Amino acid sequence: MRILILGGDGYLGWPTAMNLSASGHNVAVADNYLRRRLYREENVEPLWTVPNLHDRSAAWKNKSGQAIKVYIGDLREWEFVEEIIRKFEPQGIVHYAEQPSAPYSMLNRKAAMLTLSNNLTVTANLIFATREYCPDAHIVKLGTMGEYGTPNIDIEEGWIEVDHKGRRQKFLFPRQAGSLYHTTKIMDTDLLWFYTRIWNLRVTDLMQGPVYGIFTEESGNDCSLLPFFNYDEIFGTVLNRFVVQAVAGYPLTVYGRGGQTRGYLNLIDTLNCVRLSLETPAQKGELRIFNQFTETFSVNQLAERVQQAGRAMSLNVTIQHIDNPRLEAEEHHYNPAHTGLIDLGLEPHYLSEDVLIRMMQFVQKHKEKVSGDKIFKKVTWS
Ligand SMILES: NC(=O)c1ccc[n+]([C@@H]2O[C@H](COP(=O)([O-])OP(=O)(O)OC[C@H]3O[C@@H](n4cnc5c(N)ncnc54)[C@H](O)[C@@H]3O)[C@@H](O)[C@H]2O)c1
Repeated sequence: MRILILGGDGYLGWPTAMNLSASGHNVAVADNYLRRRLYREENVEPLWTVPNLHDRSAAWKNKSGQAIKVYIGDLREWEFVEEIIRKFEPQGIVHYAEQPSAPYSMLNRKAAMLTLSNNLTVTANLIFATREYCPDAHIVKLGTMGEYGTPNIDIEEGWIEVDHKGRRQKFLFPRQAGSLYHTTKIMDTDLLWFYTRIWNLRVTDLMQGPVYGIFTEESGNDCSLLPFFNYDEIFGTVLNRFVVQAVAGYPLTVYGRGGQTRGYLNLIDTLNCVRLSLETPAQKGELRIFNQFTETFSVNQLAERVQQAGRAMSLNVTIQHIDNPRLEAEEHHYNPAHTGLIDLGLEPHYLSEDVLIRMMQFVQKHKEKVSGDKIFKKVTWS
């Protein structure tokens, strides 16, 4: 299959590109290095230097013999989107190209406007280009479990049947996000649902939980192929941050009471979920939704797991409950369904002590690069 990955430079985009390429697909990536620009502007950086996309593509060709085509440009620009879709004629399109940080979206008005306009414009351009140039292509869009929030009822997989005054209708499951970033993901889903209905698009929306991990089968430990690994509160995901904090001797920053529960997954499982979705596409006119995570943890449970793994490595890991910079429930009901991807064939890689130890041992090699003042910058929601 010809597969175009939008946001191919990112934490998930590059490992996905290699994984699909290794599986025999013809892969192209597009990116404007927005993530690199934003972390520089916020004065934070990943734990190791990540080569640019042309160099990563050359390193992958060297290793695998497979080419990954690189397009550098801004997907908010219609001319760029039109050009790459016409040239590459994708059969599958993976849409990762968004500003994905909740704290960044809450920094100030400028960051909020960037998040809003970037995320919605890229999604809209993708929809229009698909309709015009590749109407049969399958769009696999990364949404987030954060679209649902933490309602006091079980979360269904995308849809809910409602009985009302003797009549019945299927709706998108109610959404109530906890940040502007998550709100843009809800708006993306609404755009995709609207245009799927009127233009017969073929879409899978993956409601993904926070991802952790460094290595995939394709990268191994090769620094020229590894993804970004941010440990700051703005661009790092929680478990990755805890791993770095543990190694650096910084108390694990648990927000508030730490009962916030979410669905997590290993980076390797993200790649498998996306590949499985592409290889069994949605039907024309279908918006298919999967909840993409493999197990749920509270923040306290994650901190305890990291503390335990640290003990096995003779590290003295401490946990600190700090004032919650976010507005969110710190204890709540959480029982989301997640059977769709398992039914497609997903075999989860669960969080184990071995997984944590391998990450911590690798992070130890880069420990001197950890800068304490970049770990927690206190971006508040208020
Ligand atoms: N990482 C997670 O834990 C997680 C969890 C749930 C959902 N997601 C979703 O998955 C997707 C990928 O996340 P990620 O962690 O890889 O983020 P990331 O920031 O590392 O990757 C996104 C990539 O898209 C690029 N991009 C953004 N706007 C662009 C534009 N206008 N033109 C061209 N390129 C553009 C960025 O430069 C970046 O390389 C996002 O949509 C995010 O919302 C991620």
